[in-house]
Amino acid sequence: MLFQLKQKILKEISQAKDLNSLEEIYKKYLGRQGELTKVLRSLKELSEKERKEKGKLANQIKEEIAEKIKARGTKFSGKTNPALADKKEWIDVTAPGILPVQGHFHPISLVQRQIEEIFQSMGFSVLDGPEIETEYYNFDALNIPKNHPARDLWDTFWLKDIDLLLRTHTSPMQARYMEKHQPPLRIIVPGRCFRHEATDVSHDVQFYQIEGLMVGQDVSMVHFKGVIEGFLKRFFGPEVRMRLRPGHFPFTEPSFEVDIKRKGPVSTKASAGKQDWLEIMGAGMVHPNVFKAVGYLPGKWQGFAFGVGLDRLAMLKYQIDDIRLFYNGDLRFLKQF
Ligand code: FA5
Repeated sequence: MLFQLKQKILKEISQAKDLNSLEEIYKKYLGRQGELTKVLRSLKELSEKERKEKGKLANQIKEEIAEKIKARGTKFSGKTNPALADKKEWIDVTAPGILPVQGHFHPISLVQRQIEEIFQSMGFSVLDGPEIETEYYNFDALNIPKNHPARDLWDTFWLKDIDLLLRTHTSPMQARYMEKHQPPLRIIVPGRCFRHEATDVSHDVQFYQIEGLMVGQDVSMVHFKGVIEGFLKRFFGPEVRMRLRPGHFPFTEPSFEVDIKRKGPVSTKASAGKQDWLEIMGAGMVHPNVFKAVGYLPGKWQGFAFGVGLDRLAMLKYQIDDIRLFYNGDLRFLKQF
């Protein structure tokens, strides 16, 4: 029946005398109430097998006829008649719908947004800093003089033929910000860092940190503990367990490191034999030499600073035991967030 209908339409097209009669044919068969359109619509009622077979044929015929009408229209006018050409793009109501592909945030972005929200609610401003840094801000202004062994803590990627580097931490923003602003201040600076070091389950050559800095006239370690505990409880939940260990950073005195107790099942080979605690941040009270470098009056201000590993926070939150999963672009992993 479809085949006969096709022959009939083709005959009418070949006999059409002008564009108007072609348009009539189009309407009669392919318009909203057209004969062929009705056939296509009625396919819904058929069994799946029949619908597949008949649908394919009917769609082929529809395409062929639309092409023929267009071609014949070109003969009459010397060019494609836009009215007829447009009509080729009609909607096939029987075709199955296609869901648009929806994107979503990378787990690191998700975690970054949550952290920003928590700190903003505690009065911290969120800033951005350059990934390409000068030696001065990455080291000198942070009380790490040239040729000092402490520089070896940060294995650095230097840029070729130019005196710049990829920042090894977000701490350079401490000096950049304080140079331009007077206390009291509270800032956090999320950003990407780079280190020329071997990778393993908790280290990558690129990773994210969030720098925190709070300076005022009487900001003490008690404020630091309060802010960090408040943050961790809101981020992980009230049951989170943290511990402070003494540490060493040239730009803080005293310095410490913060670890979080891991939870959840040991799920992969990578996690076998892993430690119970994961280090998430370095921190301390800002060293007087850093205040001096930015021109603050000696002895007038005090404050705390910290640099927390965003990847490590995401690993703990989602129980991921290999940091490299964040960066190898495996969609099977990324689509779970
Ligand atoms: C620092 O980078 C200091 N700038 C932190 C700091 C800021 C101390 C302010 C005092 C005051 P550290 O190298 O320990 O410190 O790194 C801090 C955190 O970044 C680590 O605890 C870890 O969570 C994360 N981190 C460091 N190296 C890597 C790496 N290769 N891959 C993933 N995360 C890393």
